[in-house]
Amino acid sequence: MTSASITVKTRPVDDNGHLAKSEPTPSAFVLDLEAIKARAREHLEDGAVTIGNQADHQQIISLLNDALSTELVCALRYRSHHFMSASQGGIAGFAVTGELLQHSQEELAHADRLASRITQLGGVPDFSPQGLASRSHTDYVVSTSLQHMLTEDLVAERIAIETYTALVRFVADRDPTTRRLFEDILAQEEDHADELSDLLRRLPTGG
Ligand SMILES: [Fe+2]
Ligand SMILES: [Fe+2]
Repeated sequence: MTSASITVKTRPVDDNGHLAKSEPTPSAFVLDLEAIKARAREHLEDGAVTIGNQADHQQIISLLNDALSTELVCALRYRSHHFMSASQGGIAGFAVTGELLQHSQEELAHADRLASRITQLGGVPDFSPQGLASRSHTDYVVSTSLQHMLTEDLVAERIAIETYTALVRFVADRDPTTRRLFEDILAQEEDHADELSDLLRRLPTGG
């Protein structure tokens, strides 16, 4: 595929410092529509995929798969903490168990969205349990202490926030759809971190 040909033109200035009248307005948005139309007819087998560069394409699938592993581990960790908080966390555990279940479901929904994008790009989402923990950016930690569970969940959310921020920056204009997906997930990870922070603050001492 050829590289993107959307160009931004600026108007030249004449000897008196006035903008030339025959040129587009300053920083006008100009689309090379003929080239775009021609490219749209090439590689129709790629469907929605119009990422210009094959190396970027494969790299983005790989980044999405790493994020998928992270979401799966987070969903499992929250699931485990949902059950453990209810059975081991005393009265405070009962208070947070629903929140932990909801986080687990939301992490699974993130995994689904990442997998869907991977298949849209022609890749294969890696759901294999083999090596899942080592592919994940975050750790699977189980504890019988509610304080420890919530702390580990907050640590994982903070890791996710940093990694999604880096992914958003890296993907940038290479693939705006994937970047927006990472941005959406990032916003929800920030909500999760806020909620965990609140729960930890309200936890009775020794909880
Ligand atoms: Fe997530
Ligand atoms: Fe999260």
